[in-house]
Amino acid sequence: MSRRRFVAGNWKLNLGPAEAAKLGSTLKGALAERGEVDVAVFPPAISLAAAVEALKGSGIQVGVQNLYAEATGAFTGENSGVMAREVGCAYALIGHSERRAIFGESDTLIGKKVHTALAAGLLPMLCVGETLDERRAGQVEAVIARQLEAGLEGLSEAQLGAITLAYEPVWAIGTGVTASPEQAQEVHAFIRGWLRTRYPAWVAEQTRILYGGSVKASNAGELLGQPDIDGALVGGASLDAAGFTGIVTA
Ligand code: PGA
Repeated sequence: MSRRRFVAGNWKLNLGPAEAAKLGSTLKGALAERGEVDVAVFPPAISLAAAVEALKGSGIQVGVQNLYAEATGAFTGENSGVMAREVGCAYALIGHSERRAIFGESDTLIGKKVHTALAAGLLPMLCVGETLDERRAGQVEAVIARQLEAGLEGLSEAQLGAITLAYEPVWAIGTGVTASPEQAQEVHAFIRGWLRTRYPAWVAEQTRILYGGSVKASNAGELLGQPDIDGALVGGASLDAAGFTGIVTA
């Protein structure tokens, strides 16, 4: 069973509505002939509507970078999955390492957010990854397994089909240090094996696992050439139309 490639751009806290609309329309043109690749972008919440409008008709999907575990209520400053869906989002990024490290999101909260996203009709993209200290301590597999366990807790088989996973080693995010294709493949294979031991075979076969962490046009080809790497979650390089297009082409 072959998995369709998937390249996603995480714009983080960059690009207001005007800039988001500009990059969106550039990508719409530049990626019109992208072949068999799914593409999505994650703009800041304030720029979602502008990006959705600019990308209309392109087939490039838009996702929200974060949502709260409840859809509405007295949660000042939070994003709602239901509202993100109303604006036209298809995806929700959940458990990004910046959410875990800077905003103190726990594994349990992240697992809850996956359910909230699904209930809102959004496709969760669940991020997992170890820190440099955890890698040095030989804890990569234990950390990833713990994050997967909590992030996928209580999902039905049908819900599992809606999940995309992203492996992002924290030490490779925004540092310019990319995991080598072999290092990344090793963890991707571990994740697929982990899925295989817990769920029906189709889950491990069909679930797309993206790699993230300093992906650029120059290293994307080699990373995506690995058997268990199905795409890329791109931060810094996704802010540049030529760089992002180069990764999709690779
Ligand atoms: P980076 O970020 O490509 O800038 O390393 C990746 C991410 O945080 O998703």
